[in-house]
Amino acid sequence: MSMTTEALELHQPLLSVRDIDKSYGGLRAIDGVSLDIEGGEIVALVGDNGAGKSTLIKMICGALRPDGGEIFLRGKAIAFGSPKDATDAGIETVHQSLGLVDTLNVPENVFLGREKTFRVLGLFNQLDLSAMREETRKLLERFGISVPTLNEPVFRLSGGQRQTIAISRLLLSEPSLIIMDEPMAALGVDEGRRVMDLVVNLRDQGIAVLMISHNLEHVFKVADRIAVLKNGRLVGVVATSDASRESVVSMITLGTA
Ligand SMILES: Nc1ncnc2c1ncn2[C@@H]1O[C@H](COP(=O)(O)OP(=O)(O)OP(=O)(O)O)[C@@H](O)[C@H]1O
Ligand SMILES: [Mg+2]
Repeated sequence: MSMTTEALELHQPLLSVRDIDKSYGGLRAIDGVSLDIEGGEIVALVGDNGAGKSTLIKMICGALRPDGGEIFLRGKAIAFGSPKDATDAGIETVHQSLGLVDTLNVPENVFLGREKTFRVLGLFNQLDLSAMREETRKLLERFGISVPTLNEPVFRLSGGQRQTIAISRLLLSEPSLIIMDEPMAALGVDEGRRVMDLVVNLRDQGIAVLMISHNLEHVFKVADRIAVLKNGRLVGVVATSDASRESVVSMITLGTA
């Protein structure tokens, strides 16, 4: 391989969405959208209700198939048939519903569906509660998450704590991209701030984050770049440091960069 080819390969974005489309019946929900996400950056996806934000991320996380266009992961074309394919490729998604089981405690939720077991007498599998508890403790510590106790069912935790548990369970698989649909919706001011701290912490550990949010204060605080959608089209992508609130608001409402 020549030096130039090597250099080019090193500059592949983590994720590259090229000219994708999606229609629901006669409605074009996503119309020729292209977007790159680099490793370890936070990209906020904003736009009015019905702009196509959820539709776009559903195509990236394998929940919906695009009608046209391509998606590349580190330069390789991908065609996810299901969310599991995306997860296997290192793309994890937090949906608004969070996907926690209220009556289970923190380690049980973190390891939900991938429980650790050990074999007893070479015959049957027993849940390895102490290993799951210890790994959960380490995971939360690594990402600066504090919860009062690991043993209580998660319905006892606050909205922000539940949100951080939902995010931390995705980190077990060491993803390269985490997608969040409205991660701070319905949280109080302090709790929203804590979840934002976690998002920054993820970025600082090299994980890219694609975050849908209606809260421009949050967006301006944490995002490296802001992508604006209107009526299924990408209005533009701006570096947060170069953008003003007014300019982003006018991109959202008027659809002009
Ligand atoms: N399953 C579906 N069937 C038909 N139309 C749909 C479906 N899902 C979304 N739409 C339509 O596609 C368009 C984009 O919807 P989408 O949910 O992607 O918007 P959004 O930007 O996420 O909005 P919000 O901020 O309200 O969550 C909207 O006009 C919506 O009504
Ligand atoms: Mg949505």
